[in-house]
Amino acid sequence: MARMLKEALRGVLERDELSFLASGFDTIGDIAILRLDKRLEPRKSLIASVILGKNKAIKTILNQVSPVSGEYRVRSFEYVAGEEKTLTTHRENGCVFVVDVDKVYFSPRLSTERLRVANMVESGETVVNMFAGVGVFSVTIAKKHRDVKVFSIDVNPVAHEMQVKNIQLNKVEGRVIPLLGDARNVINQSFRGVADRVIMPLPENAHSYLPDAVSALKEAGGMIHYYTHVFTGRGEKPVLKAVEGLNSFLKAPYSVRSARVVREVGPGWVEVSLDLKIGGGV
Ligand SMILES: C[S@@+](CC[C@H](N)C(=O)[O-])C[C@H]1O[C@@H](n2cnc3c(N)ncnc32)[C@H](O)[C@@H]1O
Repeated sequence: MARMLKEALRGVLERDELSFLASGFDTIGDIAILRLDKRLEPRKSLIASVILGKNKAIKTILNQVSPVSGEYRVRSFEYVAGEEKTLTTHRENGCVFVVDVDKVYFSPRLSTERLRVANMVESGETVVNMFAGVGVFSVTIAKKHRDVKVFSIDVNPVAHEMQVKNIQLNKVEGRVIPLLGDARNVINQSFRGVADRVIMPLPENAHSYLPDAVSALKEAGGMIHYYTHVFTGRGEKPVLKAVEGLNSFLKAPYSVRSARVVREVGPGWVEVSLDLKIGGGV
């Protein structure tokens, strides 16, 4: 996309302006999300018209004007061109998701990771997704495995509403159970010792919920899919740093079954995913 955009704008933008386009854009459903460098502000309508002209499937162009922030992990946008809306329908991994990009968290960049985790789930498992958003991990898992149950928690009422809708759209009712509330409270009240697998897609703060994730697992133990943001200086290894960061929060015996960088999230910062085996002789 970034290359296509640069090609299309060559001769229209100045050479230095082209270099500010480097990060490209994300597409959620039929909405393109730009993160335009401030220096391209006067050119945003021109850039938007090129994207709309080249991609018939894109109907709306938004520009992200704040970082992802707050408990609900949402961001602010300015409308740039096309249909003025923030609600769309996104398709990935054979599933369909209603998403209001202005009111809930959603990143299309994690679709490969979601499929990887869904492929690891085994027949008959009970899964707790602590930070479910619009239900994207949970629905992907339930769609692949008919005999799996996912308790799918989020604290954002709008994300919860959309998750309810997405469960219906993907016909996984009864297999994904949407729960509105703080994951710690929900687990402590009703879901201690039930899970074979816990998913923790809240990279900014998952570490502080590790004891709750462990308490959701069955007595025999299970798997935790843990996400964290890591700043990596020169010569440092992001996966090692992520594992070192675990030790002050995770008191249960564990082993790291696999680990990877899933994406860049800022200059020097990456998101790391760790698959942690807890208990059961580790
Ligand atoms: C980074 S988003 C991930 C959403 C989704 N899993 C995905 O991949 O698109 C984190 C989500 O956790 C939710 N959240 C934050 N704190 C929470 C808490 N204490 N309990 C439950 N959900 C929480 C936010 O509302 C947000 O939807």
